[in-house]
Amino acid sequence: MQQPLKIIWRKDFETGNVEIDHEHREIIHRLNVFFAFAAAGKTGEEATFKLGEVYAWISAHFALEETIMRAHNYDQFEDHKADHERLLDDIRDIMDECRAGTFTGKDAALQEKLEAWFVGHFKLMDSRLHRMLHFAP
Ligand SMILES: [Fe+2]
Ligand SMILES: [Fe+2]
Repeated sequence: MQQPLKIIWRKDFETGNVEIDHEHREIIHRLNVFFAFAAAGKTGEEATFKLGEVYAWISAHFALEETIMRAHNYDQFEDHKADHERLLDDIRDIMDECRAGTFTGKDAALQEKLEAWFVGHFKLMDSRLHRMLHFAP
């Protein structure tokens, strides 16, 4: 039987900032809990509700980063925010699939896509942000 989707934390995800890495681990963990939940054959309504909670939590993390970037007039604010929006769009698409009852929680292509997002975003964008802030006056 196909396993539920699961994103495994890897060294590539680390930004080097302990608090941020902790929040990122939490994002991955919460998503994995949702994938297992959906794969256990929950109804579309239950799965949508569960994913809605994860979505709210991720949005809050992104909003915090965006507030910090604005406060520092961060030079790559627009690009960084656009990348956040991309992941949130993807999660909204999954919510739509849940609602329609078509999300199985076992889609390997989706797992690869999300992992690529996390590697790219955490590794390049978030670690740059935290490096810049660290050295900011
Ligand atoms: Fe970010
Ligand atoms: Fe982040």
